[in-house]
Amino acid sequence: MTTTPEINSAHGGTLVHRIATPEARENFLEAGASMPRVVLDERAVSDLVMIAIGGFSPLDGFMGRADYDTVVTDMRMANGLPWAIPVTLSVDAAIAEPLKEGTLIRLDDAQGEFVGVLELTEKYRYDKAKEAINVYRTDEEKHPGVKVVYEQGAVNLAGPVWLLERDPHPLFPSYQIDPAVSRVMFAERGWKTVVGFQTRNPIHRAHEYIQKCALEIVDGLFLHPLVGATKQDDIPADVRMRCYEIMMEHYFPQNRVILAINPSAMRYAGPREAIFHALVRKNYGCTHFIVGRDHAGVGDYYGTYDAQHIFEEFGPDELGITPLKFEHAFYCTRTHTMATTKTSPSQPEERVHLSGTKVREMLRRGELPPPEFSRPEVAAELARAMRVAQEV
Ligand code: ADX
Repeated sequence: MTTTPEINSAHGGTLVHRIATPEARENFLEAGASMPRVVLDERAVSDLVMIAIGGFSPLDGFMGRADYDTVVTDMRMANGLPWAIPVTLSVDAAIAEPLKEGTLIRLDDAQGEFVGVLELTEKYRYDKAKEAINVYRTDEEKHPGVKVVYEQGAVNLAGPVWLLERDPHPLFPSYQIDPAVSRVMFAERGWKTVVGFQTRNPIHRAHEYIQKCALEIVDGLFLHPLVGATKQDDIPADVRMRCYEIMMEHYFPQNRVILAINPSAMRYAGPREAIFHALVRKNYGCTHFIVGRDHAGVGDYYGTYDAQHIFEEFGPDELGITPLKFEHAFYCTRTHTMATTKTSPSQPEERVHLSGTKVREMLRRGELPPPEFSRPEVAAELARAMRVAQEV
């Protein structure tokens, strides 16, 4: 057997694999009928998947109290390894009460399908306000990430998990490239450096600009749109993926770019989530990670570059992935190029940049975002999707 050289090791050193073998799966299926059940929401299912495929390495399960506490307060696991976002399975106290530590719990999805098993090691109450303030920098319930924390159950169930089966994604099976596979793909292409790109929005020209700036200095670009749970007014993942397919077809050198889905749920935790996003991409094998303006931000909770500054809180080799930081990019009408204030002589009125909210408003009115903001084929696809959504 040949082994594939790895360009970047997983966080903590080993890529976690928690997908049950066919034999273990059969045993779980048989025993499952008599196990106590816990029903997972969409985020918890995606967390289970991310743990199982190694995207959240070194986590092999939902976090116990020791890791949870230090992650919330210090952005580190109990052993000191950097980790910025709690990954917990929170249930109502009444559900947690009869569950016994040391037993197997059957995990069902919202449709009642048996999807995984939790080896329950611990259950603990936690301080929601403390989590909100530390992780999200606010305890306002209208923050979409904080809202989830306040709405979820009061008790965290912790312990290693098993995913029963890695099913193909119902919408994007050909883009389901898990960490073990992306690592092989990078090596096969001979890439020594790969930059990861996180996004939850339809691709626009500022995205394309920073992706291509990054691609000038590394071997490959791993376009990794998040397709897990997002807030209600974000553009749906299928529309965003079609926009990416259009870009791959017309605007990217296909031999230097891999498009793959990131199954995780969005937290909207801004700076903390930028660290989390970077570590997840490290697990997929990336050596670099793009952090632009207000990464993973929402509303005006975070400063424009807070998600870049937070990387300075870690020692040079602690994260094991290099952030590529980009300033706010725009189209400069004076030089007729994409640029930032680092490269453009323009005055503010010569800069075309639109917020996601503005673009959604334009689309709702039936207007297309201008070519300075969005590639025309992408604008047309967004407009088409908006028309379809308005018809239903
Ligand atoms: S995110 O919530 O997933 O970060 P988004 O899809 O908007 O949202 O952003 C993806 C990445 O592109 C982030 O790193 C973000 O900082 C960056 N980005 C988005 N718009 C710009 C812009 N105009 N200039 C520079 N970086 C940007």
